[in-house]
Amino acid sequence: MTTPIIIDTDPGQDDAVAILLALASPELDVLGITTVAGNVPLATTTRNALTTVELAGVPCPVRAGCDRPMARPLRTAEHVHGETGLDGYDLPAPTTAPAEGHAVDWMIETLRAAPAPVTICPLGPLTNVGTLLDRAPDVAARIARIVLMGGAYFEVGNITPAAEFNIYVDPEAAEIVFRSGIPLTVVPLDVTHEVLTTTARTDAIEAAGRVGPAVAGWLRFFDRFDREKYGSEGGPLHDPCTIAWLLRPDLFTGREINVEIETRSDLTRGMTVADWWRVTDRAPNALFLGDVDADGVFALLTERLARL
Ligand code: BDR
Ligand code: CA
Repeated sequence: MTTPIIIDTDPGQDDAVAILLALASPELDVLGITTVAGNVPLATTTRNALTTVELAGVPCPVRAGCDRPMARPLRTAEHVHGETGLDGYDLPAPTTAPAEGHAVDWMIETLRAAPAPVTICPLGPLTNVGTLLDRAPDVAARIARIVLMGGAYFEVGNITPAAEFNIYVDPEAAEIVFRSGIPLTVVPLDVTHEVLTTTARTDAIEAAGRVGPAVAGWLRFFDRFDREKYGSEGGPLHDPCTIAWLLRPDLFTGREINVEIETRSDLTRGMTVADWWRVTDRAPNALFLGDVDADGVFALLTERLARL
């Protein structure tokens, strides 16, 4: 039995590693990759998704989605990911083109036609998924679960003092997702800041077969920003944690809690108001992860990358 998934993404080095982990894992059937504007503009995230699929050597269609948030101008993160979004290792330009059609249209058709509900893994701003649910509310019943990287509780913010990047960029889309009633698993900064690319872990990945040197190059570029910012012994490996949770939920712990998205305040826009201590009577709407076996995640990732 394989789990059918759609990866919705804005590569980004950590997004690219998540794509490789999914494509290397026989438990998952990646029906397609949809791209969104986020870390870098849409044309670049789409190109980077194609580059990553070609590096994996596992065919998988890539489709471009929304080029800006539902209600706001786009905010990007070249200061973290570099101008190309995949700075750190030079790969050849992709030889394949994106599949035809808008990613949101494709998702609607695919979800309606799928023999069983499909899991969606959003790794960037939630614009494509919010647009999908806004435009075709019937497909909510065709989504088994949404497993997303975004938000924070104890760690609070990385793009503002109050907000994590993916939720901050498109809080209106995030609000639609968190109010959808679809089962949600949320991988927040609280978890990803435990999963650090230490020198020893990155060196092990570099030795992990054909794709190892590219992944290590990306991670060494990506983690310079967070090492400097936090004084940590590595950078947080955000997005691959979503795929790792699908493969090995036993490596994580969390709580079923209520999470609301702040959309109105300029000061706290995009904050995930997570009722971790259950101090309200608002109904739980998400499995909000809180802890992780980081060594277990890196062992899984390294072993899977070596298969490509
Ligand atoms: C998230 O923002 C992006 O920079 C990363 O790819 C990740 O999805 C972390 O806040
Ligand atoms: Ca991302």
